[in-house]
Amino acid sequence: MIASASDIRPFIPDDVAKIVLSPKSYADDAVIYGAFKWLRENMPLGVAQVPGFDPIWIVTKHADIKEVERNGKLYHNADHNPILNDQASDAFTRDINDGSLRIISSLTFMDPPEHAAYRSVTSNWFLPGKIGKLEEQIRALAKKSVEHLLSFDGECDFVRDFALHYPLRVIMTLFGVPAEDEPRMLKLTQEFFGVHDPEEQRPEMVADPVAGAKMWAAALEDFYRYFDDLSARRKDVPTDDLLSLIANSRVNGLPIPRDEANGYYVAIATAGHDTTSSSTAGGLHGMMLYPENWAKVKADPGLIPGLVDEAIRWTSPVKHFMRNATADTVLRGQTIQAMDRLMMCYPSGCRDEDVFADPDRFDITRSPNPHIAFGFGPHMCLGQHLAKLEMRVLFEELLPHLKSVELAGTPRMVETNFVGGYKTLPIRFTRC
Ligand code: HEM
Repeated sequence: MIASASDIRPFIPDDVAKIVLSPKSYADDAVIYGAFKWLRENMPLGVAQVPGFDPIWIVTKHADIKEVERNGKLYHNADHNPILNDQASDAFTRDINDGSLRIISSLTFMDPPEHAAYRSVTSNWFLPGKIGKLEEQIRALAKKSVEHLLSFDGECDFVRDFALHYPLRVIMTLFGVPAEDEPRMLKLTQEFFGVHDPEEQRPEMVADPVAGAKMWAAALEDFYRYFDDLSARRKDVPTDDLLSLIANSRVNGLPIPRDEANGYYVAIATAGHDTTSSSTAGGLHGMMLYPENWAKVKADPGLIPGLVDEAIRWTSPVKHFMRNATADTVLRGQTIQAMDRLMMCYPSGCRDEDVFADPDRFDITRSPNPHIAFGFGPHMCLGQHLAKLEMRVLFEELLPHLKSVELAGTPRMVETNFVGGYKTLPIRFTRC
């Protein structure tokens, strides 16, 4: 028994709890950010009890998310599912996966000490000093993407015609995946992350109660088939790409096992582009809604790194990861029991009034900007420096060509409570 902590669980009102858990809510900023604001003000750490789901602690404050994430021993990723699923979907995953929820052996599904051993395989490769050497290669891809955008006659969909393809090109180039295979990678990622969005689902899975879990399993199978072949080729003939580094790595003195290698490929292939493209689209959208930023960055391109950080904070494309407590503990005065599950709501932490003045406002001069859209602690985004470099270079190449830009329709967001953001962003632009 822990003294002075409250053992009475604060239950979140049903309507608010349903909003936070439901993928649909994330397609409407007013709905989801309204719910998070209510929670931060009234019940910053409460339990959502929604039929069909485990009871879940909803963590909405910046400080609490950091507190949980910094302590990887007390709060694990993977004793349960690090991604929120309903109980039926988790049961399906266990059924097809020998009773385990670890459907993919990626970093996200690992805890200490395994996590550190696998993370160290690529952590050097992703450091800013190393990533910086790729700038010219990335700039060449950015220039090509900008040329493509400018080929549209003053009107296009910024997401579908532009933002979606460039980060995919970057990561696949660094990975050594041939350009002709990119559409397949894009489709698989969209199925992987868009499991709850009817427009992204495989047709046979729409309206299936465990569609999400089935889509994951099917997309993973396809990814593995693809990467098994590429990995074998890199083992025969090593190159200097990232895939070769992983394929030929040793962990704890032994060659990396097939499942863990595939887990790595899938994580990097998928985590690396939907997130970055959504943040890029968010950056442009933010400047259209708050045009003083457009004027400032056009006058001073030195503000582009600030634009990138603010775009990532404001969009916060990763909506949650889960942790479970490994022992009884106290957080914000509440007793958390061993094996309780907690949902880290990054978009909420990124708009916490205690940290960000006027948090809904898009402001590229916000300084400091200690957002947690990349998470925090041992699992903090491995690709964060790459994502920021890609976005900076893209805006550096794009902005000098655009005189003005405005919305040409209503943007639409993906229905997901996991990873997503802009599905469409129709724009009208004039060239310089
Ligand atoms: C993990 C966000 C881009 C690879 C994560 C996490 C978040 C995140 C929130 C979980 C952190 C945690 O649990 O504390 C983002 C955002 C991105 C982005 C907002 C773009 C704006 C990328 C890119 C790559 C990448 C470009 C790779 C090329 C990964 C990997 C992990 C991860 C491998 C798992 C790390 C671990 O568990 O140790 N990311 N990410 N991400 N991200 Fe990113």
